[in-house]
Amino acid sequence: MRHLLDVTDFSADEIREILRLAEEPIASLGRPLEGQGASLIFEKPSNRTRHSMEMAVVQLGGHPVYTRGEEVGFDTREPVEDIARIMAGYHGVIAARVFEHSTVTRSAAAMDADGTGVPIVNMLSDKSHPLQAFADALTMRQQMGELAGKTVAYVGDYANVARSLAEISLLLGMRVRLACPDGFDASTAEIERLSQFGDIAQSTRPGDAVKGADVVHTDTWVSMGQEADKESRRRAFEGYTVDETMMSDAADGAIFMHCLPAYRGFEVSAEVIDGPRSAVLAQGHNRLHAARGAMAFILQEVTS
Ligand code: CP
Ligand code: NVA
Repeated sequence: MRHLLDVTDFSADEIREILRLAEEPIASLGRPLEGQGASLIFEKPSNRTRHSMEMAVVQLGGHPVYTRGEEVGFDTREPVEDIARIMAGYHGVIAARVFEHSTVTRSAAAMDADGTGVPIVNMLSDKSHPLQAFADALTMRQQMGELAGKTVAYVGDYANVARSLAEISLLLGMRVRLACPDGFDASTAEIERLSQFGDIAQSTRPGDAVKGADVVHTDTWVSMGQEADKESRRRAFEGYTVDETMMSDAADGAIFMHCLPAYRGFEVSAEVIDGPRSAVLAQGHNRLHAARGAMAFILQEVTS
């Protein structure tokens, strides 16, 4: 059984296969969830992830069941493991958007313990957002062709989206350039971990990262759950807004990407996100195709 907890659960070849499946006609995927449910549990709000996962489940022949986190109450109403084990009796896959990454790893461990469980999918945790990364890679490949040798610059908070983007980009042979303010950057140990996958460098100066890059990517400065720190975070990120001046340092024809939701005037100017270099709508729409491809891949492993 394969879980989808992090990008690094997959080899570069497996990631390429997921991207291939994402672009296959739906009819060729064989309805691996026929007659089965898919449990989608959200401890945090969502637009893209909920809708793309619900529709991907339908397109794979299954029936999505949405539940808010407070209804199941991970470790408050009952232990994470009990929730996962019970749901595995109703559903062919369990997906969760969680505050703590350990909620999805513990669910996966509970599934693996007796070999009767179902795949667990991480729909965003404090650590990573692998479904976003698959859509990001799909979008970059559609816009630029072969990704090996291209450069992606990430400007902003080194959080869940940045981490998964860095992993998938490096695994696919891209150079990754991070620009993050002190205190919101990748630790030395994290840069060393990423270095095992490829060419990564980090700076506090956005200009260093963006220079000559083929893609400039950012995310909110205030992730879900950090709203109390909004003002201090906005001060810490002054100078990190991706605007036309910053984009002019990137390669000719460079594209702008953002996982969304976006806050115009903070991490990105309206001119850039709503301008001709922006790939954010294709990127958002690709969440559906990437979710379908990724689930088709892990469910193939269940049935094969
Ligand atoms: N990018 C993303 O995960 O969006 P949602 O939070 O709306 O699902
Ligand atoms: N880093 C953001 C991503 C939202 C899709 C968050 O965790 O809120």
